[in-house]
Amino acid sequence: MMENIKIENIRIIDKNTDKIGCVIIKDGKISSVSASDAQFCSDKDIQTVIDGKGKVLMPSFADLHVHFRDPGFTYKEDLSTGSKAAVRGGYTSVVLMANTNPVCSGMEIYNDVKRRAEKIGLIDVEPVISVSENLNGENSGHLNELSAEVKFLSDDGKGVMSSKMMEDALELSKKLNLVVMSHAEDHSFSSTDMRKAENYMTLRDIYACEQTGGRLHLCHVSTKEAIEMIADAKKKGVNVTCEVTPHHIFLTDEVKYRVNPPLRKQEDIDSIINAIKGGYVDAIATDHAPHSEDDKKNGAPGISGIELSFQLCLTKLVKENNIDLQSLSRLMSYFPCKMMGLNKGLIEEGYEADLVLVDIDKKTKIDVNKFESKSKNSPLDGYEVYGEVLMTFKSGKIVYNNV
Ligand code: DOR
Ligand code: ZN
Repeated sequence: MMENIKIENIRIIDKNTDKIGCVIIKDGKISSVSASDAQFCSDKDIQTVIDGKGKVLMPSFADLHVHFRDPGFTYKEDLSTGSKAAVRGGYTSVVLMANTNPVCSGMEIYNDVKRRAEKIGLIDVEPVISVSENLNGENSGHLNELSAEVKFLSDDGKGVMSSKMMEDALELSKKLNLVVMSHAEDHSFSSTDMRKAENYMTLRDIYACEQTGGRLHLCHVSTKEAIEMIADAKKKGVNVTCEVTPHHIFLTDEVKYRVNPPLRKQEDIDSIINAIKGGYVDAIATDHAPHSEDDKKNGAPGISGIELSFQLCLTKLVKENNIDLQSLSRLMSYFPCKMMGLNKGLIEEGYEADLVLVDIDKKTKIDVNKFESKSKNSPLDGYEVYGEVLMTFKSGKIVYNNV
């Protein structure tokens, strides 16, 4: 039998709500949400009562962009350590990029990854299918053999250089109701000018989206120019969405740490934060990219980010830039859940009880050695940030408890 849980005296935040109240979880679902009047909160069939005084309850977070390296590079991360890292960060749903070994180019790996993650049982995963077969950049014949449950296509890690291939993928997105996630990088500029690399490809992708009427999502937008192009496209009604990462809004290129796209200038950060305020950014996604120490020394790009995402966003967006928690919840839960097609992301009756209990005022010092992730690759060790994830619930079950 599943435990029924009551969380009382809690500040309830989601995209639509900011109120003090009481949440009852039954059979893994949110069964009622009410203001704190005892008469609404009383329920006999409760096994666990949690006093939420001074704390905040949000829908757990969903990450549209994660690398768990499984299969093939499990010395960096595997589905089990990745899942534990996710729930420690307050996440219970993640989209897994295809740059594993073998590459996720078909239903066999897709199903295997999904099944193994389900067995671990901490989070829901949605594997991405590569746009080009085995990320070879050359052919996409494998896309003719996809099952209906596939939701995302991406050559993340590399990007799609061929404009024809991008058009074809976007055409397919209409037919199969998929989203094409673009790692926008024009390789002809990768070794000389990473700003141009992102900007040219963002322009190309938006044009391809317009031409085809397909469904495009731009990953890890990091430049002022790219976010402006996206805002303009949205104003024109182009069917494009975008994500930004916690590290690109928290760190400038004065911090020397290799990640792709690279850390940018303060003015880029300012533009992205303005775009968030203007409603042009759809999601925060971590691009959690675990690497071993040796791989990092040899130049592997990426940051192990899923365990710090909430704290970085809370500190940078909410505390420093007055963005409200409801907007943060839209970016970290509501929109990504919607894109993944999940019955999660809001604290309303009937929604899956995937929730996170957080302290938003506590100051903590980041210690990468506490990561559940196999990889400690982060330039943020020792930084002071606000916020702490106290408890993560998946379908009403406590899957992370730090209380
Ligand atoms: O920094 C990055 N790391 N950017 C990417 O596009 C790929 C990722 C990885 O897979 O390590
Ligand atoms: Zn990428």
